[in-house]
Amino acid sequence: MDRILITGALGQLGTELVPALQEVYGTDQVIATDIHNGGQLSENTRFVVLDAMDAKTITQIVDREKITQIYHLAAILSARGEQNPHHAWELNMTSLLNILELCRNRSGIKLFWPSSIGVFGEDTPRFNTPQYTVMNPTTVYGISKLAGEKWCTYYYKKHKVDVRSIRYPGLIGYRSLPGGGTTDYAVDIYYKALEEERFNCFLAPETKLPMMYMPDAIRATLELMQAEESKIRVRSSYNVSGMSFSPAEVAASIQKHIPDFSISYQPDYRQGIANSWPDSIDESYARDDWGWRQAYDLDSMTADMLENLRPRLARAI
Ligand code: NAD
Ligand code: SER
Repeated sequence: MDRILITGALGQLGTELVPALQEVYGTDQVIATDIHNGGQLSENTRFVVLDAMDAKTITQIVDREKITQIYHLAAILSARGEQNPHHAWELNMTSLLNILELCRNRSGIKLFWPSSIGVFGEDTPRFNTPQYTVMNPTTVYGISKLAGEKWCTYYYKKHKVDVRSIRYPGLIGYRSLPGGGTTDYAVDIYYKALEEERFNCFLAPETKLPMMYMPDAIRATLELMQAEESKIRVRSSYNVSGMSFSPAEVAASIQKHIPDFSISYQPDYRQGIANSWPDSIDESYARDDWGWRQAYDLDSMTADMLENLRPRLARAI
């Protein structure tokens, strides 16, 4: 029987991944942890306040609960990372290394650790970015994710740690808010469209970035973790991307439902980060190895986001 530990479980991704894992493996088999306890997980969730850098307590939980899968989500994302680069590096690196070490010393633990499109840089091919290519990230977040990918490959090759990873693009969902990334505008825009019918974007209109709707991201994560070990050729991190769009394109998609919606643009320091990232991603390794196929495009995501957000915002008033 699989037993699951999740770090950073109250963030944008964890808030959606925890219920999905509970559904697959059973509520009692899933232990959600985060450094604070102010999240939106269901009441019956087994939750522990845990600093992801506290290797001793993580080891105690893993041994006591006979954990077989770890989803290590705790991290500082791209935009927030630039506010305090040393802290971002410390959390993103130390916590991963501690958990890789823990897995090395215990056989049979499968580890999921997310990487990001932040690993790419200005001299990376911008369109249909290949799985293997030039990677010179410009943010501390990207540097930590690239170093993390190298450590994952090292622990797989040297110590046979079954670590699996996805380079998520910007994630968009209606159940949770993002925590300080460059792609956060693509969630906020839906809230502002419904609340105020206008939005001031911190990226320029034509800035295209790879994005993914949360149901696709959750399904990709579960499918990768459930794939046979022999199918996983990439032990750094898989390119995946549901879609690519710019702020002007998502605004046009929203206007099909809310014709009076308007957008203005006031690019800030996040524009520089976005400019260093790809427009679109080649996900053929994920497709070939574990059968990855996206379900949502921009318009189907917009329709679903607005349909689900509208009643949630109405209830919050
Ligand atoms: P988030 O910022 O929303 O959540 C991160 C969580 O980590 C928060 O709940 C925070 O409280 C927690 N945390 C911070 N410091 C901690 C510590 N010391 N110990 C334990 N928990 C701590 O981030 P997210 O969007 O949920 O991202 C989850 C993972 O997915 C990250 O590794 C991120 O790099 C990766 N990722 C996310 C996206 C995206 O668009 N959301 C894209 C690419 C990769
Ligand atoms: N959405 C993330 C960010 O903007 C990409 O890793 O930081």
